[in-house]
Amino acid sequence: MSGALAGKRVLVSAGPTFEDIDPVRFVGNRSSGKMGFAVAAAARDLGAEVVLVAGPVQLDTPDGVQRIDVRSAAQMHAAVLEALPVDVYIGAAAVADFTPRRVSEHKLKKTVGSDTLVLELVRTPDILAEVAVHPRRPALVVGFAAETHEVERYARGKLANKRLDLIAANLVGAAGSGFECDDNALTVYWDGGERRLGPAAKTEVAARLVDLVAERLQA
Ligand code: CTP
Repeated sequence: MSGALAGKRVLVSAGPTFEDIDPVRFVGNRSSGKMGFAVAAAARDLGAEVVLVAGPVQLDTPDGVQRIDVRSAAQMHAAVLEALPVDVYIGAAAVADFTPRRVSEHKLKKTVGSDTLVLELVRTPDILAEVAVHPRRPALVVGFAAETHEVERYARGKLANKRLDLIAANLVGAAGSGFECDDNALTVYWDGGERRLGPAAKTEVAARLVDLVAERLQA
């Protein structure tokens, strides 16, 4: 297959993770998975062999993409590490940062006389940061950052702290971008550069992002 990513293996994580509390409840986040799925399809269009680790989403698998479904952050962590080595890792998933310390075997009941419930949450592994220091580190590690303010400062902080090659930041709450929306606008930062992508359809922004990935892979 021809294309700027021909012969490359690209691993994409997408969607939310759901962290179970009991058999009927979970802690999750508002991610549709559309951006990650669009990135997987765009990488395939550039000729890459694509593995997509997907959290719980209602989306069809892009043709020609190998999909691995997971539910929790722990499962996503295992599936991503299992898929190494790859040339490029793009962490587009909105991984839950915390998970309940214990999953209750039985449905939690309201207790008489108590108006509150305390859930103890513990940190999940940072999959992206782990991939970036892994012995089988991909040539290019790309993260996402959702920020509500001071986008560049926080995004560049994550780029450095997590030892990434690129970080794609979006301003949460801006009109025409972000959660549950078909459009998006990203600013991608790397050491010594930045590029704005969009606002445009997520499929278009994803295509521009993988063009940049292919460029930086050559750099
Ligand atoms: N990520 C990950 N594993 C986690 C948490 C996040 O791989 N347990 C990845 C996401 O896939 C995304 C990036 O890290 O690429 C987001 O970074 P993060 O520091 O989690 O961003 P925020 O959640 O916005 O962090 P903060 O709350 O500190 O702003």
